[in-house]
Amino acid sequence: LASDHVRIVEVGPRDGLQNEKKAISKETKLDLIQRLAKTGVTTIEAGSFVPAKWVPQMASTAEICEHLFTSPPPSQNTKIAYNYLVPNIKGLENLVKIMDSTGVPADSPGSESKAATTTEVSLFAAATEAFSKANTNCTIAESLERIKPIVALAKTKDIRVRGYVSVALGCPYEGPEVSPSKVAEITATLLEMGADEVSVADTTGMGTAPRTMELLQALKAAGIANTDLALHFHDTYGQALVNTIVGLEHGVRIFDSSVGGLGGCPYSKGATGNVSTEDLIHTIHSLGMHTGISLEEMSRIGSWISGELGRSNDSRAGKATLSR
Ligand code: HMG
Ligand code: MG
Repeated sequence: LASDHVRIVEVGPRDGLQNEKKAISKETKLDLIQRLAKTGVTTIEAGSFVPAKWVPQMASTAEICEHLFTSPPPSQNTKIAYNYLVPNIKGLENLVKIMDSTGVPADSPGSESKAATTTEVSLFAAATEAFSKANTNCTIAESLERIKPIVALAKTKDIRVRGYVSVALGCPYEGPEVSPSKVAEITATLLEMGADEVSVADTTGMGTAPRTMELLQALKAAGIANTDLALHFHDTYGQALVNTIVGLEHGVRIFDSSVGGLGGCPYSKGATGNVSTEDLIHTIHSLGMHTGISLEEMSRIGSWISGELGRSNDSRAGKATLSR
């Protein structure tokens, strides 16, 4: 195996909450982010700079971002990267305005004694035309064009850029047979455009072990290094951890997850969230690998936020850990 350290990207406050229909207060979101920042996790998706009419739940992102910029670093030991999703240049410009007004540089490296926070953005393209149209109101080619100026502006501000390829293992409109070579081609394009890493996402949770392996082989054949790659699994069919093992065996060491398994649409029957961070940590630790994250702390947060949202805690490892 390539290395025994796995970096987990906590996506709960963004991917996990974006579909919640009931408005969640800014205070609860900040509380969630600040609790997560004390667990040892090093990357946290904190929100999206998207139009409120597209994703109403993310309307408080600007205020959350401003608050995080002006708060002291949450931990003495860990350097945290706060990540914001930006669908277009306007989203990044709105983020940059807040950086400029608060005087926060994107990368403010901490000295040995004082940890600091950094800012990064995620931009996204889809692997199918139907999903691209539904999610970003444009074709795949147009979405890639839209990304160029975002990367260019991010680079001038020293903001690290993450790319996403959605519906990589199944599309709600086009079904499970998404072309692995198409996913590899878009991933390679995002990296060539300057993305620092690309998260390949099984948005629908339709991925299976053999198709995950096939996809990883296509990515490798396209010359994509494991160090540039993250995997993002949803647990709709209960396959997220199986597919995670396939990814680990292949040498991938960055995985996305959400605390308590947050995510999914509460009104869409059967839809579930991201793989839960607690389950992911448990699996990785059970293999003798490391995350630097406290499973106990994460489990407490999963239980707390599930209660706040009035939903069931979707992490089995989280519930088991707390009942020990
Ligand atoms: P559009 O309606 O075509 O945009 O949406 P537009 O450029 O025509 O603008 C419409 C209005 O929005 C204008 O205002 C703009 O100024 C404003 P008006 O003139 O009507 O008053 N506007 C903005 N306002 C604030 N922030 C902005 C912004 N941009 C324009 N950034 C757009 C195009 C891309 C904006 C839209 O389709 C969109 O926001 N899409 C993103 C939706 C989204 O966030 N989906 C979920 C994230 S992706 C995902 O979940 C998958 C992932 O998690 C991986 C996985 O789980 O698999 C990443
Ligand atoms: Mg997701």
